Parts: sequence; structure tokens; C-alpha cells
Amino acid sequence: MTAAQGLARYETTLAGLERKGRRRTLVAQAGADFSSNDYLAFAGSARLAAAIASALERGVPAGAGGSRLLRGNHPEHEALEAEAAAFFGTGRVLYFGSGYAANTALFSTLPQRGDLIVYDALVHASVHEGIQASRAQAVAAAHNDVEAFAQAIEHWRSTGGTGHPWIAVESLYSMDGDRAPLTELAALAEKHGGFLVIDEAHATGVFGPDGRGFAAGLENRAHVIVLHTCGKALGVSGALLGASAVLCDYLVNRARGFIYSTAPSPLMAAAVREALRMLVDEPQRRADFDALRSFANAELTTKLGISSSGSQILPVLIGDNGRAVRVAARMRAEGFDIRAIRPPTVPEGTARLRIAITLNVDHATITHMFSRLAVIMAEEKP
Ligand SMILES: Cc1ncc(COP(=O)(O)O)c(C=O)c1O
Repeated sequence: MTAAQGLARYETTLAGLERKGRRRTLVAQAGADFSSNDYLAFAGSARLAAAIASALERGVPAGAGGSRLLRGNHPEHEALEAEAAAFFGTGRVLYFGSGYAANTALFSTLPQRGDLIVYDALVHASVHEGIQASRAQAVAAAHNDVEAFAQAIEHWRSTGGTGHPWIAVESLYSMDGDRAPLTELAALAEKHGGFLVIDEAHATGVFGPDGRGFAAGLENRAHVIVLHTCGKALGVSGALLGASAVLCDYLVNRARGFIYSTAPSPLMAAAVREALRMLVDEPQRRADFDALRSFANAELTTKLGISSSGSQILPVLIGDNGRAVRVAARMRAEGFDIRAIRPPTVPEGTARLRIAITLNVDHATITHMFSRLAVIMAEEKP
């Protein structure tokens, strides 16, 4: 075996992806933003920039220099966690470097051998990653089907399951833009002595009172765990995992991704603190965003004749991978930054454009974009 043969394996796989219209490449951002999750336009805001500059000035370091369990535990992390726990109304909060890392840590650490994880069929890849490393059993439930979650738990119990069930959902699905039935799922988890884990990645900052998400009101319950990512509407990076003090303490002691990793940048923690303050101080942004989101939903239906999700995530289903890629590329060439999302990120045969509405675009740009999309979709025949 030569080294060249070793590399050939990867080339073969990439060629296979190419044939199926699934090869991914990195495309630079350009044109009007219809694909970021910077929903409230916080990322480039003067206020966040000033907060970072002032943190630097008061001596907050760029790097933590170590794990949270060692020298890397900076006062900015602790201040953020205390403020976030008060803001979201949860027992305690742990700040992770990313939502991906938080979900992986949570699902690989908290569910125990003998437990059952029932996850929504459309839940994020980071949840799957955590589940794969978990000692608990896991089973998928049909998307947003409370009865399917209930049946999975009942079947497991009737076949000897003795541990605790864990229900894993997103409050607003990242590729479909629809909402989970959180109240019913919280009741189901409680009925079975289980836990409900709610990933609020796409709801934090934009929905609920002061942008506290759809789980606001459920967060003080001991059996509910909520993840608020900071890289989307909050415009920064990292994730705030809210749970009871005992579960957070357990993660600090057992979550390998928390223990054996350099703590997130204290500067980012300072910026997230400011972003939480902005949610409270700048309600106009959310009001503007609500209006823009409603407008975009109506425009989608008028121009393309399809029903819309109601949220800021507007999937335009195309089906065929190649056609999705061609339509997205033509839209980008016209100055609209739209990306095609293909399997395995979404189920087979459901390649789509994921159009995201943010305050980085205005009404006129949305109208122009949907008009051009209608024309280009008609030209790019299936
Ligand atoms: C639902 C959901 N959970 C978790 C994540 C991961 O969060 P992060 O981007 O902070 O790693 C994402 C981001 O893509 C997401 O959409």
C-alpha cells in the first residue's frame, strides 16, 4: 500500500459525492444576506464592537489559557453564566464554546445506561453526535408527533426499560422553520419521570418575552434542560446550557468536552453579556424583525405560491440536489446569498433552499429576491 493509494480512497468518495450532486465546497459570503442566522443583525453592530473594545481595555484576555477546571475559568465566564441564569430564569447556566460542543457534551454525558433517548427525526446533527457517544439507548420519533414520542417511551417501558426517558427536540427547526409542541412534550416527560431537552438555537433572541425563546416559562422546571446558542440571533458565539444546578455540576465533573478543552474566549463571554443586555434594551429590533418576518412570509406565498413556515426560516423545497444547487448558484450570481441544503443535512429527496430572514436585508430586497427566485425556478426545470 502506498500513501497515494491511501489518498485515493478520499478522492473516490469525493467523486461519488460529486456524482450525486452532494459535494460541498466553501463559498465566500457575497450579496444580500439570505442565509445567515444573524437574525437581529447583532453580529456587526456598533454596540457589540464597543463592548468587545471596552472589555479589551479593562484587561479581558482574548484567550482563556486553559480549561475551565484549571486556570481558564475567567470572571467573565462566571458573570455571563450568572446573568444568563437570571435572564432565562433557570437554575444554573454553563457557557460552552459552541452549540455543537454543548449538545455533544449534554447527550454523551447526562443520559445514563438504562435510559432511553427519544429524539425528533429532524433534530440537529450535534444531538446525534452526542447520542452516538451515549450509553443510553436511542430511538427516533416522527417529526413533531407527540403520540410517536409517547409510544416510543411506552414500548420501551413495556419491554423492560427501567431508567429515565429523555426527549430531544428543537424549539424551532433549523431547516424547516416549524415549531415543536413544547408544552405537550414537557408534560409527557414529566408523566414518565423523564427529561425534556430543548434546543432553542433558532428561537433564542427572537421569540418569547425579551427574546428568551419558546421555552421561557418552562426553564425553571427541574426536568427541563434548554440550550441557547449564541452564534445566531445573539450575533456572537458559544452556547448557554440552562439546567438545574445538579445537572450542571455533573457536566462540570463528567462532560469530557467541557473538561478537556480550552475554555471559550473571555472576550466572547463579555460580548454575549452585552448581547443579552441588548435584547432587553433594544426591543425595537425585535419589533422590526417581527414585521420583516411577516412580510417575507407573505411575499414567499404570493411570489412562489407555496405555503410558508411563519418563522424567519423559509425552506423552498426543490427535491433534486442538482437543481437546488443550480438555483442557489444563479441567485448568488444575481446578488442574493442563498444556499442549497442537501442530504444528509436534510432527508433524502428534500434538497431545498433555506432562506433566512434577518435585519441585514430590507423589504425591497426581499421582494426583489422572491421575484427573481420565481423566474429562476421556472427556468431551471426539474
Ligand atoms: C438546532 C441547532 N443546534 C445546534 C447548533 C450548533 O450550534 P453552534 O453553531 O453554536 O455550534 C445549530 C447550528 O447550526 C443548530 O441549528
